[in-house]
Amino acid sequence: MPFRVERLKINFKTLDEFKKFREYGLQELSMLEDLQANMIENDSDSPFYGIYDGDALVARMSLYLIDAKYDRYFDPPQAFHELMKLEVLPAYRGRGLGSMLVEHAKRLGRPIKTNARLGSDPFWKKLGFVPVKYDAERDRGENPYVWLPEGVRLAVKKPH
Ligand SMILES: CC(C)(COP(=O)(O)OP(=O)(O)OC[C@H]1O[C@@H](n2cnc3c(N)ncnc32)[C@H](O)[C@@H]1OP(=O)(O)O)[C@@H](O)C(=O)NCCC(=O)NCCS
Repeated sequence: MPFRVERLKINFKTLDEFKKFREYGLQELSMLEDLQANMIENDSDSPFYGIYDGDALVARMSLYLIDAKYDRYFDPPQAFHELMKLEVLPAYRGRGLGSMLVEHAKRLGRPIKTNARLGSDPFWKKLGFVPVKYDAERDRGENPYVWLPEGVRLAVKKPH
């Protein structure tokens, strides 16, 4: 069966699948607690997208829509997607799954900002992302890369 990207639902199975990923942390634990406490409904939409091989989740990313009022990356300022937790399980790397997820995010049409892990710069550049000039106050230790849809430019920091 060909691989395809799907929006992940929050349920106990998805949260169990998440344990296979290296970046399992507070976000996943808080989803689990919310589900256990009935604060969120079973099968509600999560901010995660993923790719399955049969029953097994083998790649995922999260995408948050950030409000235009917090945008300090794009010109004109606008709502954008923050892409995090992109991860393909080791046995599935190098087969285009990481690219499929990122291309899916691009098709949503908004600018994208991500924090590139050490050593992943060539991957992001191949997918058309550009590094932004580091601004310590804004970027706080991140290595931000952005993707600009047509008509959107990088914001230039205004002098104080
Ligand atoms: C980085 C990662 C998401 C790439 O996923 P993937 O499915 O293996 O990548 P793809 O098969 O779509 O690769 C696309 C291209 O990028 C290249 N590429 C992938 N990872 C790379 C890396 N770390 N360094 C250099 N090039 C890389 C591939 O060679 C491929 O090039 P090609 O089209 O010329 O063959 C995956 O390796 C991963 O999960 N790594 C661990 C977590 C991580 O580093 N995440 C990065 C986001 S911060």
